[in-house]
Amino acid sequence: MTEARPTPDHDPQPQYRLQRVERRYERGGVAVLAVHDLDLEIDAGDFLSIQGPSGSGKTTLLQLLGALDSPTSGSIFFEGQELGQVSDHVLTGIRAERVGFVFQQFNLLPTLTAVENVAIAMVPLKVKSEERRKRAVELLGQVGLAARTEHLPSRLSGGEQQRVAIARALANHPRVIMADEPTGNLDSQNATEIMALLGRLQCDTSVTVVVATHDPEVARHSQRQIVMRDGTVVSDART
Ligand SMILES: Nc1ncnc2c1ncn2[C@@H]1O[C@H](COP(=O)(O)OP(=O)(O)OP(=O)(O)O)[C@@H](O)[C@H]1O
Ligand SMILES: [Mg+2]
Repeated sequence: MTEARPTPDHDPQPQYRLQRVERRYERGGVAVLAVHDLDLEIDAGDFLSIQGPSGSGKTTLLQLLGALDSPTSGSIFFEGQELGQVSDHVLTGIRAERVGFVFQQFNLLPTLTAVENVAIAMVPLKVKSEERRKRAVELLGQVGLAARTEHLPSRLSGGEQQRVAIARALANHPRVIMADEPTGNLDSQNATEIMALLGRLQCDTSVTVVVATHDPEVARHSQRQIVMRDGTVVSDART
C-alpha cells in the first residue's frame, strides 16, 4: 500500500512551529520565565489574537515570532527555517521583508507626512523613490486614508495614525503582521475599526495577522483566540 501524499498545491507545513519555547530573563539574580513550555503552530493566513493579563508574555511571544528576540531554549521554525540556526544576516532579512510590526504608540515619525512615513519603510529594500511614493499612496488608499496622504501625524486622529502605521507595516509585502496592543490607545469605535481593517487585509492579502491584546472585545474580532497565563498558552480556540 502506498503512503498518502499531500497534493502539490497544499502546503502541509505550518508557517510557524514552536517547540518547547522558553525565554528566560535574569533580573537582579532572579530568573524570570517570560515564556516557557510553549508549543504552538500558526498557519499562513491565520488571524490570531493573544490575550492575557499584564506580564503573561504576550509581547515576548510577539518579539520571538518577529525574530526580534531569540528563545533561551526550544525552537521556532518559520517558513521551514529554524530561527535559532540562521545567521544574523538572514534574521535581518526576515524582519525587513517578511514581518510587519504595529505598536500601541503608532511610532510614526512626527516630522514626516503620512505618505512619507509609509514610503520610508521601503528604503532598506532599495525601492526607488517614485516607486516608494506610488506604493505608499496605494497603501494609504487601502487603509482608507486616500484623503490624508500629506498630513503630519499631529494632524491625524489616533485611529488615522494607526492606519498609517498599518500601511507602513504592509509596505514590504510581509507574510505576517505582528500587532502589539494596536488598539490600546484608541476608543472602542476606533478599536473596532482597526480590528475590522486587519481582518479585511488578512482576507484580501492572506497575510497572517497576530494581535496581542488584554481586551476580550478586541480579541473577539480574530478567528483564533489564544490565551496566555504566566508565560504559557492556556487556551486556544477557533471561532
Ligand atoms: N527585558 C526584560 N528583562 C527582564 N524581564 C522582562 C523583560 N521583558 C519582559 N520581562 C518580564 O517578562 C514577563 C512577560 O512580559 P511581557 O512584556 O511579555 O508581558 P505582556 O503580556 O506583554 O504584558 P503587558 O500586557 O503589560 O504588555 C514579565 O514578567 C516581564 O516583567
Ligand atoms: Mg506587552
